[in-house]
Amino acid sequence: MAGIDTIRESWATRAGFILAAVGSAVGLGNIWRFPFQVGQEGGAAFLLMYLFFILLIGLPAMLVEFTVGRRTNLNAVGALRKIGGRTWQYVGGLFIMIGFIILSYYSVIGGWVLRYFTGSLTGGYTADSEAYFVEIATGFDTLLFHAIFMALTVGIVALGIKQGIELAVKLMVPSIIAIMVGLAIYAVTLPGGAEGYTYYLSPDFDVLASEWRSIVPAAAGQAFFTLSLGMGVMITYASYLSKDRNLAEDSGVIIGFDTGIAILTGLIVFPILFAAGLGAAEPGPGAIFIALAGAFSEIQYGLVLGVLFFGMFSIAALSSAISLLEVVVSYVVDEYGMNRPVATSIIGGGIFLLGVPVALVSDGGNPIVIDLYDILAAEILLVTGGILVMVLVAWFHADKALDELSKGIGSVGILGSVWIWLVRVPVILVLLISLALAFLGYYEFLSDEFIPFVRG
Ligand code: PFF
Repeated sequence: MAGIDTIRESWATRAGFILAAVGSAVGLGNIWRFPFQVGQEGGAAFLLMYLFFILLIGLPAMLVEFTVGRRTNLNAVGALRKIGGRTWQYVGGLFIMIGFIILSYYSVIGGWVLRYFTGSLTGGYTADSEAYFVEIATGFDTLLFHAIFMALTVGIVALGIKQGIELAVKLMVPSIIAIMVGLAIYAVTLPGGAEGYTYYLSPDFDVLASEWRSIVPAAAGQAFFTLSLGMGVMITYASYLSKDRNLAEDSGVIIGFDTGIAILTGLIVFPILFAAGLGAAEPGPGAIFIALAGAFSEIQYGLVLGVLFFGMFSIAALSSAISLLEVVVSYVVDEYGMNRPVATSIIGGGIFLLGVPVALVSDGGNPIVIDLYDILAAEILLVTGGILVMVLVAWFHADKALDELSKGIGSVGILGSVWIWLVRVPVILVLLISLALAFLGYYEFLSDEFIPFVRG
């Protein structure tokens, strides 16, 4: 239980817990995945649906995970077994599998971020920011940077360094906000950027009406991904909490930070992309990298900003990667008594291998394996994990959940019942619909894009 004990101490303060949860939530999901999804799923129509999912589903779902974690004080697998009995430990097994898949491509993209950090130091991307992205997105160098990112993640988790994570997030959150606000102000001054705001902020309800089949699962998946829900991270983190914390208030703060940073990213990326004449949908997973590298190449002291931005972005990605790896490692260390550094290295090695095809396979410059892993993990697996935990808690153990929530709040009153009933019926129903749509969408992706690509 060495790992658990190490981390448990660090959550002694409210700030420690909130910062760790914010550190996990804020990451590639906000700065890379969010603008990429907005661009792919119809702009403001997606934004609207995403905000709806964050409030209506993210908030109640986070509370469910927090009550499970704090009630049991156990790792995610152990927590579900304690509440639901032995069968439910398989849901914990699902969490472990999701952690493996997400971290394998998360680390490749984390490697891109590190690469852009070095590119800011050398000015490597100033000549042509689009060509630079294509060059670094796949290939042996990509593999090398994936290995470096994974090694950093493993190094931190192996040491169990609470101070490292806490210090990093204390520095990261204010710096990211300061740099992003600065960039958003810069974006306002760009000629030709106005169209970007329109695209990002004025929902076109026709798009929503015609594209809802892909917008709904994408928005649900993004809500789970960005809030680190559906795979036990928030269960694990809340298991180190004391009973006097107000879980509802903490959820609000964490979600507020996470959503604020995502929205701010859009206010930077879309005006810049439109001002550069690139439009939104074109660059796919490269959107944020192409937009920012282009901007940093042009403005005065841009490369200094680039170093700061990609430095902070690397820390944000790392503090999320750590939480993904920690769910798997804490399980193996707890349940099998394995030595932490050994367990971390073996698991890290396995995750690295799973990421090899992501780093190497290119469909004419497009890193297509990212889609293969990402849609499966975010839209199907995280949502499934989320639904299962919500069924367990809201339908079978609502009394315990309400009792747990009331600690640190006093009486939860009618709002408590609203929460349980919201989860019991509308939330689970919407998520089931979204899951069905996600299966259809994934089938289409496989048959229209991936299988033809594999067949050449
Ligand atoms: N929330 C992280 C991000 O937005 O980058 C990614 C993530 C971390 C997803 C942990 C899921 C998770 F369990």
